[in-house]
Amino acid sequence: MCGIVGYIGKKPAFSILLSGLKRLEYRGYDSYGFCVLNQQNEPFLYKKVGKISEAEVELSNLKVNGRVGIAHTRWATTGAVTEANAHPHFDCKKDIFLVHNGIIENYREIKEKLIKEGHKFTSETDTEVVVHLIEKYFQGNLEEAVRKALKEVRGTYGIAVISKKDPEKIVAARLSSPLILGINQDEFLVASDPAAIITHTRQVINLDDNEIAVLRPDNFFILKEKPLTTIEWTPEEAEKGGYPHFMLKEIMEEPEAIENAIRGRLIPEEGSVKLGGLINVSEKLREINRLILVACGTAFHAARVGEYMLEEYAGIPTEVDIGSEFRYRKPIVDKKTAAIFVSQSGETADTLAALREMKEKGILTIGITNVVGSTQSRETDAGVYTRSGPEIAVASTKAFLGQLATLAMLTVYLGRQKEMGLVMGKRIISELAKIPDLARNVLKSAPEFAETSSHLTPRSTLSNSAIEKLAEKYKDFKNFWFIGRKYNQPIALEGALKLKEISYLHAEGVAGGELKHGPLALIDENFPTIAICPSDSVYEKMISNIQEIKARGGLVIAIATEGNEEIKKLVDDVIYIPKTLEMLTPMLSVIPLHFFAYCLAVLLEKDVDKPRNLAKSCTTE
Ligand code: F6R
Repeated sequence: MCGIVGYIGKKPAFSILLSGLKRLEYRGYDSYGFCVLNQQNEPFLYKKVGKISEAEVELSNLKVNGRVGIAHTRWATTGAVTEANAHPHFDCKKDIFLVHNGIIENYREIKEKLIKEGHKFTSETDTEVVVHLIEKYFQGNLEEAVRKALKEVRGTYGIAVISKKDPEKIVAARLSSPLILGINQDEFLVASDPAAIITHTRQVINLDDNEIAVLRPDNFFILKEKPLTTIEWTPEEAEKGGYPHFMLKEIMEEPEAIENAIRGRLIPEEGSVKLGGLINVSEKLREINRLILVACGTAFHAARVGEYMLEEYAGIPTEVDIGSEFRYRKPIVDKKTAAIFVSQSGETADTLAALREMKEKGILTIGITNVVGSTQSRETDAGVYTRSGPEIAVASTKAFLGQLATLAMLTVYLGRQKEMGLVMGKRIISELAKIPDLARNVLKSAPEFAETSSHLTPRSTLSNSAIEKLAEKYKDFKNFWFIGRKYNQPIALEGALKLKEISYLHAEGVAGGELKHGPLALIDENFPTIAICPSDSVYEKMISNIQEIKARGGLVIAIATEGNEEIKKLVDDVIYIPKTLEMLTPMLSVIPLHFFAYCLAVLLEKDVDKPRNLAKSCTTE
């Protein structure tokens, strides 16, 4: 999500860090910062909210000397968008400076302990505990202090650290958050992303989990020998993580989006979840006996899945509406109603208008939002961040997965406050924890793209995957139906929306049971149907719908559960997804649909990341 660059060598560090940060801008960020140590080992610390381009003049006038430094672009997750929360973070004496990507799950307990020991904190972030832990263990050798500090943290990290008390050194370490070392003649770099250093050097070493590297002006070492690799990406490819489009990159990040949403929030032994953003309203939520979910577009589809989850498992009457309709409906609400607003950007005008309407009526408002500090997150009474990371492609993909995972957690949270028993809570939690890996398996039907370990080879061509072959087979059709029932009925709507918005083909999503009430009239050999029919409680009904279509000469592509060989006899093509709890199947069934839409749009040579007539954030009603 965030970006890291570090430099040590013979050249002035500041301009190299600045150009590195600019190359990371594509990832999206809300604040940034640098720390450079000068010849006297005094730090120059600069942190700012906003975009680098807005401070171009100020930055060019800065006189920064020094040949070692670290820099960071931040996308807020824990703590608001403020200068204090921007990286680098520092210890009590301002001797040690650190930049971090990732999430420190146990930061609250570490922070409490360190405060008792006398440490003074200046930010709300999880990151800051790491630099204070390093301070605690520092006895003259920075890498030794880093090693000891990291033993105490739980979560994920890519870090780069410098210290005026052990200067001429950058210490870098990682766990489940990418970090590479750039190796050049008499200079070394560290970065979270090849894009940051590619114009400088192509000789890199991928740091592995639990490894600590020490970079000096004239040499470097890691705790074990590592081979040199050559980056083959062009700088443009590097910006998209080597993928040809942001949308593909973001689809490939869908398993990670689920993982980020649930990280540190599941309590398996209690069959429950911990949602820090709801602590202040937890008592009020206990009193709630009706929920209204409001959202637009893809977020609305997530909310619709949430409606099924909340009613079936939390036992709370729930209704869902689109933002632009809800406020004109004169909705009837009372003090026992809570309104939940689902939005990636947190800036969608229609959703915000509905939120304000509910606030005026004095209703408890909750946000499910991706962007920290967005209008929605500021105006709701409480909320949960989805932590999907910046989404650049106009068509929403990974954020949708973050929303679904969050709604599943909310269901357990509210359910456990009401009638949901321990056994059911445990069951949902344990299945939810498995979803990121199952989602990775789904993406294996795109083998070349799923190869996350090889971040340095170009992925500029489509692979020969099953879904790509399907897209090739169906690329000349102009109309598509998407059908599903129950939890996968909103997924049918989502599959159709994604296809129409990026390929400009006509696609419609409909509940399987509705076919016979009209849509069936359109079925013929030129109108294929994508039927989402995992082996769940409505499977038999979906099979009847498929038979209705086949009887009228229609083509059918089924999204079915692995092991269902029978369905092959009935339909023209099958895409398999792994088995999971019925309420969680949308997190797996939607992935092939996103990928199918992407492949078709590429084959039809459309502007995948920026479809015509659409904007990423709809800030007007
Ligand atoms: C579709 C898409 C849109 C958004 C909608 C709401 O791919 O991206 O339908 O989902 O405009 O946006 P947010 O979630 O930012 O409120």
